[in-house]
Amino acid sequence: MTIAKGRAPRVSDVAAKPTKQTKPAKPPSAEAPVASKGARTLALDIGGTGLKGMVLDHDGKPLNERVRVETPRPATPKALLAALAQVIKQQPHFDRVSVGFPGVVMDGVVHTAPNLDPTWANVDIDAAVTKLTQKPSRVLNDAAIQGFGAIEGHGLELCLTLGTGVGSSLFVDGILVPNLELGHHPFKKGETYEEYLDNATFEKLGKKKWSKRVLEALAQLQPIFNPRVIYLGGGNAKRVVGELPSNVRIVSNDAGILGGIALWR
Ligand code: BGC
Repeated sequence: MTIAKGRAPRVSDVAAKPTKQTKPAKPPSAEAPVASKGARTLALDIGGTGLKGMVLDHDGKPLNERVRVETPRPATPKALLAALAQVIKQQPHFDRVSVGFPGVVMDGVVHTAPNLDPTWANVDIDAAVTKLTQKPSRVLNDAAIQGFGAIEGHGLELCLTLGTGVGSSLFVDGILVPNLELGHHPFKKGETYEEYLDNATFEKLGKKKWSKRVLEALAQLQPIFNPRVIYLGGGNAKRVVGELPSNVRIVSNDAGILGGIALWR
């Protein structure tokens, strides 16, 4: 990976596959301190309900307790970045930042943020976080980061996140297929997957009826993607009841933070 001098690295610089670090030709210089052995990553997870953060060591192991604050409403860039600053200031030392963002982000710039605020469109979140932290940052969709925290890296693996919204990420032999937004695909009764399964629906229908819907959605997606494994992440994944197909695994919502290390591999 070559990063142009004089600018913070962006997610587009990252090989989507979390490959093993290739040996640098020369020792890391002042120009590329973020790649140095022992670098600590602040992993931030921006959710529709909560903003979470913790520092990970070079191997991706947590170095402190997760810090969480409520997502402000309305979740405008200004309000949210101010709340994120509260999460950041409670962290131990870190050298670089990974951010999971609940929408489409390309080259560090937000395209959509359905569960935050429309004013996020065109905001350079990468630059905003770098300004807040004074450290290089990389930003990726939250469901993609969840996926990186869960996948095994072979075959086709699909990750669905069930939380405030519904996120999705698809991996082929560990390589991310970017910007898959299954949540906004029409599903049933004139509703998208997100409208059919989001947290508002969970609250309205209760665990049993909502879980039945999750199983229906899985049955719909299985023959389309034929994934080797489907990971269910996000805050509501643990609330699914009923018998899951044998290739479906519930993953801890912590994957949404732990997967952040993949952005620096
Ligand atoms: C967004 C996705 C995001 C998901 C979960 C959806 O509304 O479009 O990008 O991954 O919510 O936060």
